[in-house]
Amino acid sequence: MTTRRAVVTGASSGIGEAAVRALRAGGWDVVGVARRADRLEALDAEVGSVSFAADLTSPADVDALAEHLSSTGDVHALVHVAGGARGTDRVEDGVAEDWRWMFEVNVLSAQRVTAAVLPLLRSSIAEGGHADTLFVTSTAAQTAYPGGSGYNAAKAGESMLARALRLELNGEPIRVTEIAPGMVFTEEFTLNRLGGDRAAAEKVYEGVADPLTAGDVADVIAYALNAPGHVNLDLVTMRPVAQSAQHLLARGPLRPRL
Ligand SMILES: NC(=O)c1ccc[n+]([C@@H]2O[C@H](COP(=O)([O-])OP(=O)(O)OC[C@H]3O[C@@H](n4cnc5c(N)ncnc54)[C@H](OP(=O)(O)O)[C@@H]3O)[C@@H](O)[C@H]2O)c1
Repeated sequence: MTTRRAVVTGASSGIGEAAVRALRAGGWDVVGVARRADRLEALDAEVGSVSFAADLTSPADVDALAEHLSSTGDVHALVHVAGGARGTDRVEDGVAEDWRWMFEVNVLSAQRVTAAVLPLLRSSIAEGGHADTLFVTSTAAQTAYPGGSGYNAAKAGESMLARALRLELNGEPIRVTEIAPGMVFTEEFTLNRLGGDRAAAEKVYEGVADPLTAGDVADVIAYALNAPGHVNLDLVTMRPVAQSAQHLLARGPLRPRL
């Protein structure tokens, strides 16, 4: 069997970077995509991925990515991880610029990159084979919380995009997987959400026994892509044990009640 090639967006940090590592360790060729070329190149040097720097909010950059991909070989999987949150404002205080950014990066970029890569996925499917699309959304797509507003709305939008896509692709051997993580400790996500306020970002995770790691999510991404081609993991919701629900987070060590 020929080596399979995946495109991973959001590859310069956190979950996307971990997905690149996990897929490379599993023998995939990987094209990592994000804006920060220096971080992508350092990862390439370490794990043997081949990066392409692109701003997914730019149609021209996404066209250039598609051009690059089509001239460098087959594409068997799109793993769309790029995204993020800005702010924790209530609906009534929502900052239009933050909402616009969240819709651009989580929803419109997902549509743009899917539309660009789908023809390449189709033309790369060998006789009897299959291809993958995978979206990392969030439990914020499933349950609203005070101050979640713009991020809740954007991630729910991305989740609906994945669900509609699965229906539209019925009859084709192309899987659509959604992975919805709860609390994941990554270096930049909460820091960016809170405008670089490190103390506030640390407070979010304070006392929580083992939030998910980027590697935990990457393991599930790799599992979904490596599962037999007829098996579609529609939706995987994953949380740390300490977070029973969006509103129910245990802080402090977890202990059996004896
Ligand atoms: N951390 C959590 O608790 C958590 C929980 C559930 C879901 N998620 C979701 O998981 C995904 C990854 O989260 P993370 O924690 O790994 O966050 P992260 O470390 O902040 O990673 C975000 C990635 O998206 C890329 N990105 C942002 N804007 C982009 C743009 N315009 N064009 C191209 N790439 C762009 C960033 O790269 P550049 O800045 O280099 O462009 C970065 O690689 C996000 O979709 C997030 O919503 C996170």
